[in-house]
Amino acid sequence: MDSISVPEVTLKPSDRKMPMLGLGTSASPFSGSESTKLAILQAIELGYRHFDTASLYQTEQPLGDATAEALSLGIIKSRDELFISSKLWCSDAHHELVVPALQKSLHNLQLEYLDLYVIHWPVSSKPGSNEFPIKKEDFLPMDFKSVWEAMEECQTLGLTKSIGVSNFSCKKLSEILATAKIPPAVNQVEMSPLWQQNKLREFCNENGILVTAYAPLGARGTIWSSNRVMECEVLKGIAEAKGKTVAQVCLRWEFEQGVTVVVKSFNKERMKENLEIFNWELSEEESKKISEIPQSRGCVGEDYISRNGPIKTIEELWDGEI
Ligand SMILES: NC(=O)c1ccc[n+]([C@@H]2O[C@H](COP(=O)([O-])OP(=O)(O)OC[C@H]3O[C@@H](n4cnc5c(N)ncnc54)[C@H](OP(=O)(O)O)[C@@H]3O)[C@@H](O)[C@H]2O)c1
Repeated sequence: MDSISVPEVTLKPSDRKMPMLGLGTSASPFSGSESTKLAILQAIELGYRHFDTASLYQTEQPLGDATAEALSLGIIKSRDELFISSKLWCSDAHHELVVPALQKSLHNLQLEYLDLYVIHWPVSSKPGSNEFPIKKEDFLPMDFKSVWEAMEECQTLGLTKSIGVSNFSCKKLSEILATAKIPPAVNQVEMSPLWQQNKLREFCNENGILVTAYAPLGARGTIWSSNRVMECEVLKGIAEAKGKTVAQVCLRWEFEQGVTVVVKSFNKERMKENLEIFNWELSEEESKKISEIPQSRGCVGEDYISRNGPIKTIEELWDGEI
C-alpha cells in the first residue's frame, strides 16, 4: 500500500519534528480497545506518524498496542518514527502528581518517552477523581507556577521531549510564560474555519508557541459537536468547485495557516481522504471567503466552569476570547 508522507514542523525549543497532520484518538463513546488499535494500525499503514491521546480518552493502551504491533510487523522500524502526545488530566494537575501521571501514561503506552505532554485544561480538580464530567464541587484553582515546574521536570527527566498546554487563552499563556524556564512548545486548541483563533494565533506566533488545531471538522458526531462545520455553505461551495470534500478543504485551510492539526477518524477511507491534502492548494479568493465566515466557538467549555469553583463563567475560562 502506498503511504502518504506528511510535512513536518520543528518545535521550539526542543528542535523535535512534529508531522503537521496527526490522528486524534478521542472517540465518544469509546470505540473499544481492539477496534481502536486496529484503526490506529491502519492509520500507520496509510502514513500517519503523529498520534494524539490523553489519559482521559482510554486510548493510550490501544495506541501503545498498535505501536508495538506496527514495530513487530515492520511497518515502522523504530518508535522514533512516531510523534506521540498525551495530556495531563485535571485531577493530576497538582505539582507532586504530574510526574507520576506521565509515568502512568507511559506505562499504558508501553513507551519510554512521549514526544509531547500537555496540560489538558487550565483548571485542577480533586486528586483521585479521574472522571469526566468533573463534579462541580471538585474543581480547584490551578497553581500554574508549580504545575508548570513539574511539567518542566518531566522534560528534564527525559520522560517527554516537549511540553505544552491545551485550551489556554493568551492571558493564561502569559501567566505560564512569566515563570517558565522552558516555555510551552504547543497550545492545542479548538480551531476550524468556523473558529479561526486569529488573536490567539498571533500571540502564539509572537511567543514561538505552535498552535495545534483540534476538532478541525467541528468534532462531528461527538458530545459537544454539531454538523455546523461540515454543513457550512461556504465550505461546501469551495469543496464542490474544487472536486474535494469539505473535510479536505478544512484540513487544507488549517495546513495553509501554518498550524498542526489532529483530526479523528477510525474509518480507513476517511483517514486516507484526510491525508490527501498536500498536493493542491486553496486560491486567494477561496482563502478570503473562508476568512469571512462568521466566527463562534464550538466547544464553549461549560464542563469546566462551576459557580463556586475557580472558573465561574465562560468569559473567565477564555479570558474574553469568545
Ligand atoms: N485538547 C482538547 O481539549 C481536545 C478536545 C477535543 C479533541 N481533541 C483532540 O483532537 C482530535 C480531533 O478532534 P475531534 O475528534 O473532537 O473532532 P474532528 O476531528 O473535528 O471530527 C471527528 C469526527 O469527524 C468524523 N470525520 C473524520 N474525517 C471525516 C471525513 N473526511 N468526512 C466526514 N467525517 C469525518 C469522524 O468520524 P469517523 O471516525 O467515523 O470517520 C468523527 O466523528 C481528538 O480526537 C483529540 O485527539 C483535543
